[in-house]
Amino acid sequence: MLVRLLYVSRAVGPQTTAVTDSILSVARGTNRQRGITGALCQGQGLYMQVLEGERSVINRLYNRISQDRRHQDVELLVLEEITQRRYADWAMAHVMLSEDDPMVQLGHPEFDPYSAPGQTMMKLVHELFSTGNRIRSTSATR
Ligand SMILES: Cc1cc2nc3c(=O)[nH]c(=O)nc-3n(C[C@H](O)[C@H](O)[C@H](O)COP(=O)(O)O)c2cc1C
Repeated sequence: MLVRLLYVSRAVGPQTTAVTDSILSVARGTNRQRGITGALCQGQGLYMQVLEGERSVINRLYNRISQDRRHQDVELLVLEEITQRRYADWAMAHVMLSEDDPMVQLGHPEFDPYSAPGQTMMKLVHELFSTGNRIRSTSATR
């Protein structure tokens, strides 16, 4: 059974692209082996990550990730059953959430992942991923 999970967390320490790249370079290898796909959205001191895969695999990964000391306040926003992956080609895409992103500032005044409806945040990550002018997607390695 396939599921898609979304969580939000707060970075511990400076949230540089280098830090995230080092997390992802390891993660992508594991994800490929375990059939995990998704997107990691980073910015404003936050991470929002979508994970897709077999339910038991995603549960195990989420439990590991939530104990990772590189972030804190890990909060589950959505867990949904799916029939199709949205990030099928991505062992983990990397999406930048810019602080002055007009979509975040204006289009989404409700932007606070910790209080907004989970599906609103899920949509935002999908939008950030698919609208190239508002994001920088650094995942050359799929
Ligand atoms: C924001 C964030 C996202 C992560 N994403 C993944 C991921 O997609 N896949 C993965 O295997 N590990 C990911 N990790 C790393 C895991 O937390 C963990 O360090 C890694 O799976 C190794 O686990 P182990 O040391 O228990 O073997 C992520 C860590 C952080 C902080």
